[in-house]
Amino acid sequence: MDKIVVNGGKPLHGDVRISGAKNAALPVLISALLTESPCTFSNIPDLVDIKTTFKLLRNMGVEIEGDSTVTVSAGKITASEAPYDLVKTMRASILVLGPLVARMGRARVSLPGGCAIGARPVNLHIKALQDMGASVELHGGYIEARVDRLKGATIYFDLPTVTGTENIMMAATLADGVTVLQNAAREPEIVNLADVLTGMGAKISGAGTDVITITGVPGLSGTEAAVIPDRIEAGTFMIAAGMTHGDINVLGCIPQHLDALTNKLRDTGMTITPIAGGLRVAAGRKINSVDVKTLPYPGFPTDLQAQIMAYMCIGSGLSVITETVFENRFMHVSELLRMGADIVIQGGSAVVRGVPTLYGAQTMATDLRASASLILAALVAQGTTEISRVYHIDRGYESIETKFSALGADIRRIKA
Ligand code: UD1
Repeated sequence: MDKIVVNGGKPLHGDVRISGAKNAALPVLISALLTESPCTFSNIPDLVDIKTTFKLLRNMGVEIEGDSTVTVSAGKITASEAPYDLVKTMRASILVLGPLVARMGRARVSLPGGCAIGARPVNLHIKALQDMGASVELHGGYIEARVDRLKGATIYFDLPTVTGTENIMMAATLADGVTVLQNAAREPEIVNLADVLTGMGAKISGAGTDVITITGVPGLSGTEAAVIPDRIEAGTFMIAAGMTHGDINVLGCIPQHLDALTNKLRDTGMTITPIAGGLRVAAGRKINSVDVKTLPYPGFPTDLQAQIMAYMCIGSGLSVITETVFENRFMHVSELLRMGADIVIQGGSAVVRGVPTLYGAQTMATDLRASASLILAALVAQGTTEISRVYHIDRGYESIETKFSALGADIRRIKA
């Protein structure tokens, strides 16, 4: 297995270009299941999760051509099934459930099971499809759904689930009648998907708010659309600039998508200025410790919690980081402790006391965003840090070591 090796202590300078968002690209690619006509999507990042999505779609008889611009043709769906082997490596595979039921009237999708950051059930996806008239049964670890045609319904999500909102929004585009999603998630990736679906002929209003209304249509057509830039990747580089006493231009990002982070980083003393095509992000002289609470969008993203914790490890005081979206999302803490951090977990919060120096160590990535936090800590640590199990990071960050290296970091990948 590949390793990433970092010699810390180099301030970051220069430009970094942000790739397409993984969490937008996945539902956008899968949305092509809703139509017989080809769809062409650009700004697709080169990531392991994208390759898994291609496998998932090809397994259903879908044709896929291209790499950063991809044409997806679901003229004929030969198997409305997502097998365990693929779903277990990428939970977002559950996103095929809604489109398959809507177009084919049936789907057999493996239950995702547990993952490193908590139980992450899909009960809200299932209940919503049942509310729309589907019969859903669980057999041998698989969700088996059937319906003649989904019916529009008013769905209330107990929690604003991102992939749940996307799944049911896609399903509702081909349903008979009007579907209203209440307490819907408001993430920019949902707006991106709604725009793509609208381009295919769907009738959707309210995406980006907590009430989304979808009026079903008999069929959808092909479209051409671009995936939005990855706000989590952008946020990771912004935090890196603050940690390393750097000054970088984060290009190709959408600043509004980063408001929660930008405000927090300014409180830590960083200077963040809009520039043509992105943000200039510069470290402050001192790192003020700040408290952070993760929330659904537009709150502070849980996908940046591990990274801001790495930053707070070298803050000048005490920081309380509270995780409210996922239980058990503190796997990075034990690794940061091995680098000299001072962190105590109390329930759903981590109390981080800033230390003057982190030290290089051998560490292990446990999940996607946890691995990013270890790279950030390694960039400022005294000495050498080795991060193993980097396949986690390859799921969601495109060419991370190349991008950091271009900014002046001493970072390299050792191929297995
Ligand atoms: C998506 C993102 C992930 C991000 C997360 C929260 C993708 C591919 N992944 O994950 O990167 O960390 O949003 O921003 O976009 N829940 C239930 N029942 C359900 C569904 C969710 O109880 O049926 C709970 C979850 O356990 C969690 C909360 O709802 O506590 C939010 O999860 P959700 O928004 O669904 O996360 P994902 O869509 O899986």
